[in-house]
Amino acid sequence: MKITQNASLLSFNTFGINARTDYYIEYDSSSDLQTVLQLELVKSNKMLHIGSGSNLLFLTDFKGVILHSTIQSIEIVKEDDLHVYLEVGSSVVWDDFVAYTVKNSWGGVVNLSLIPGETGASAVQNIGAYGVEVCDVIVEVKTVDIETSQTRIFSNIECKYGYRDSIFKNELKGKYIITSVLFRLDKNPAFKLIYQHLEAEVLKNGEINLQTIRKTIIDIRESKLPDPKITGNAGSFFMNPIISKNHFKLLQEKYPLIPHYFVSDTEEKIPAGWLIEQCGWKGKRIGNAGVHEKQALVIVNLGGATGAEIVYLAEQIQASIKETFGIVLKAEVNYI
Ligand code: EPU
Repeated sequence: MKITQNASLLSFNTFGINARTDYYIEYDSSSDLQTVLQLELVKSNKMLHIGSGSNLLFLTDFKGVILHSTIQSIEIVKEDDLHVYLEVGSSVVWDDFVAYTVKNSWGGVVNLSLIPGETGASAVQNIGAYGVEVCDVIVEVKTVDIETSQTRIFSNIECKYGYRDSIFKNELKGKYIITSVLFRLDKNPAFKLIYQHLEAEVLKNGEINLQTIRKTIIDIRESKLPDPKITGNAGSFFMNPIISKNHFKLLQEKYPLIPHYFVSDTEEKIPAGWLIEQCGWKGKRIGNAGVHEKQALVIVNLGGATGAEIVYLAEQIQASIKETFGIVLKAEVNYI
């Protein structure tokens, strides 16, 4: 384990907020984490566990201990004719893992190419893009209980996955730390290209295979989403709201072109980016916080923004969406 006192968090959040923490502790294995959790320093202070900080926003300095995994292993734990089962350490950069699966011609996560963050966080957040969610390929999640330091394995079902949601964001929030994730990948991949015009875009790059799908998705993301190394951001700032069919029908009468995705017989999901653009926010700025000009769902740090400035802009957007569409936008980003 490595303990740093009064550490800067600048390189640990993709929003580029210059906050500090009293203590920053890194551990490199599940047993190392068990030792860390028994330290008096950790037991007696407020504690926060972070991945690569691509989905959080620091509003002030953190008074307490921030933990981070450096568990980097990728291990084939079993395979059969159809599948390979890979156990991936929580700190493996998500897109490095995707690149590795594509190189080995294993299908399952290619649509999730270039999503920022680390593997442990992917299983908390149930990351998703282009018609695929990570819960589609998760078999189980290995964790350590923060209170007792005991290990526990959660099956996919036990994780209670939903849209950008899991048990680790709800009833077990702050109770377990994920140390590795077991994925099941396909040796004969079936490609999922139903999202919007994805198939046509892939065909422009050549025949349909994992490499061309990965290239296409990287191109699409790079054309719409700002690179956090250049412009601080945390990807989609809000979740796409799910509304009742009745509410949707009323909106559709007024806005015939409103985009929507089927959720169930009683619900529809609306792209928040569309709602925000309709309210005139795309490309707008307040102080040092702005709405990305190519994808209105992304709030950007235009240079030196504080967490409070970002939240102020987010709240203005939420108020205007509520007023215009009667829809409450929920932040996908965690405020700390
Ligand atoms: N749209 C607009 N204006 C905008 C942005 C979007 O009108 O400025 C409308 C368009 O109709 C577009 C539709 O929204 O066709 C959907 O846009 P896009 O394909 O960019 O996807 P999204 O719904 O805005 C979601 C995820 C993204 C993911 C993409 C692709 C959420 C909160 N976001 O965005 O995830 O990459 O789909 O699957 O579900 C993330 O979570 O950080 C993230 C980037």
